[in-house]
Amino acid sequence: MSEDVQQDRYARFAAAYANGQRPPWDSGIVPPEVIALATGAQALPPGCALDLGCGTGVSAVYLAQHGWQVTGVDWIAEAITRAVERAASAGLSADQAAFLQADVTDGAFLRDHPPVDVWLDIGCLHGLPDAGQQIYAQHAARLVRPGGIMRLYAWRQHERDGRFIGLNPDQMAALFHPAFVVEDVVFGQDDASDVRPSAWYWLRRQV
Ligand SMILES: C[S@@+](CC[C@H](N)C(=O)[O-])C[C@H]1O[C@@H](n2cnc3c(N)ncnc32)[C@H](O)[C@@H]1O
Repeated sequence: MSEDVQQDRYARFAAAYANGQRPPWDSGIVPPEVIALATGAQALPPGCALDLGCGTGVSAVYLAQHGWQVTGVDWIAEAITRAVERAASAGLSADQAAFLQADVTDGAFLRDHPPVDVWLDIGCLHGLPDAGQQIYAQHAARLVRPGGIMRLYAWRQHERDGRFIGLNPDQMAALFHPAFVVEDVVFGQDDASDVRPSAWYWLRRQV
């Protein structure tokens, strides 16, 4: 991916967290799809999770409070600082909730991290350039154990400022094929700031 595109994206995200600002997506609300991983009829047994593009750690901290061992990753230092503070305020140790500053499109991303049971992504993948999405998919295949799951929220494809962004379910399936299979898709609409078609995915790492 071009250096310019990458630097532009980084600068936009860094600006969103700068000067004590709260980015528009940082509602502090744990999505019901994350709550359902930890409690209720469909809950999974607690295990290890990665939260990609974890922001200020709202979902990562929630899962850690429910017995999961979570590593949250974001490329913006300020987001990681706030996530660490959130975990400390919740009384969580670094063994329960760890946070790392890293770029998921870096070839060496989490090179020594063991595979996890759950890969969570709320809004990171869908904004990456195509080449970054390909690298992301390779990391996911390496970092999710066979039989593990990916729980992912992404915009569906739509036009914005003259270009198409987001992924439709067929593109999602193709991106992660053959390592993952899409088991469920629920369409929604993100209208927190403006209207965008979105979806929550449940993908399973093939054995
Ligand atoms: C829309 S925000 C969502 C944050 C969080 N998941 C939430 O729900 O509040 C997307 C996050 O992905 C992070 N991000 C974007 N590109 C990234 C990359 N290449 N590597 C790591 N994090 C990235 C951003 O810094 C931002 O915090």
